[in-house]
Amino acid sequence: MATTTTTIQESTGESIGKIAVAFDEKVHEGSRYTAYLPVYDNETKFPPTQPFEFRDRGLDADPAKPNLLKTGDPNIEVTRLTPRIGTEIKGLQLSRLNDAQKDELALLIAERGVVVFRDQDFKDIGPEKQKEFGQSFGPLHVHPVGAHVENHIEFHSIYLGSDNLYRAQQRSSKLTTTGYHSDVSYEHQTPAITILTLLEVPSTGGDTGWASQVVAYERLSEPIKVLLEGLRAEHSGHEQAAGAIRDGKTVRREPVKSQHPIVRVHPVTRQKALFVNPGFTRRIVGLKDEESDALLKLLFKHISQGQDFQVRVRWDDRTVSLWDNRVTAHTAISDYDVHNPEEGLRHGFRITTLGEKPVGVNGLESTW
Ligand code: SIN
Repeated sequence: MATTTTTIQESTGESIGKIAVAFDEKVHEGSRYTAYLPVYDNETKFPPTQPFEFRDRGLDADPAKPNLLKTGDPNIEVTRLTPRIGTEIKGLQLSRLNDAQKDELALLIAERGVVVFRDQDFKDIGPEKQKEFGQSFGPLHVHPVGAHVENHIEFHSIYLGSDNLYRAQQRSSKLTTTGYHSDVSYEHQTPAITILTLLEVPSTGGDTGWASQVVAYERLSEPIKVLLEGLRAEHSGHEQAAGAIRDGKTVRREPVKSQHPIVRVHPVTRQKALFVNPGFTRRIVGLKDEESDALLKLLFKHISQGQDFQVRVRWDDRTVSLWDNRVTAHTAISDYDVHNPEEGLRHGFRITTLGEKPVGVNGLESTW
């Protein structure tokens, strides 16, 4: 990976320090999206995230979605990708949604877990408008360690190419490249919606998979549901931060841990969903080690192997996917060979909005 440094200015005009460039310019000569290539701000430090009030705009939506889906416009095509998770929409531009449509979209994402928009102009509207769109669903998360887009630290960089194998190397000791997670679930107020835009995609491969945590919960037997509904699990950002330090990266915000209800209630749909994931959940609070390990192993296997409540989406460079982290787990599928020019690289950016402090069954709250 090429790593050089340069000083950048944030849009406020304030210097945000030294930037390490995590790509090789030669690989991207002639590319239209070099401004979105991964960099690391290695100097700026952030204070702990402060608590904030969050009201999900899906609460204001008309459940029939007359503005988003039932407009009578014959160009709008809506396809349910599987019975319980995933909807694909063609004929609507995210960049032109009005407030009522955004309310209905927030509700639709909560109901369907992930909504995939095809033929979008979103990647070409510029970072300010992209950011504004994200902010209309909630405050934007800033990743404590990840690569980002120069001048836009809220844009978490998604990149795997021959000039930056970092994500692949992290997984090189594993049998699979997949790793189900809910984005940064260690945060005290965890992400609501993630908006993922890919700018360059491999000719084959590089799909994303999502699992419905609502169906994963529903499939459990009643005694296990009752047990889990009374428990919290610890989600930790410490291992990710330690990995970043080990790999010579900077930790921009002190890592946090949170104890979240294992069964979470969605604030809009009131659906119950499992809220544990192999990426960040470490132990079940109050259980003996062996009990916690056995139960988490069971749940992680259940989530990652449940093909009958998963959806896998093929990307192209005009697709934008939006998912609700409170009711899904997801994984990148890094099955392409970046050293084979016929397969190519995968490049995009993720904007993640923060939501409420998780609430479980009977009002069980997160603690930390
Ligand atoms: C993510 O894990 O948030 C990104 C998923 C992907 O790159 O497909």
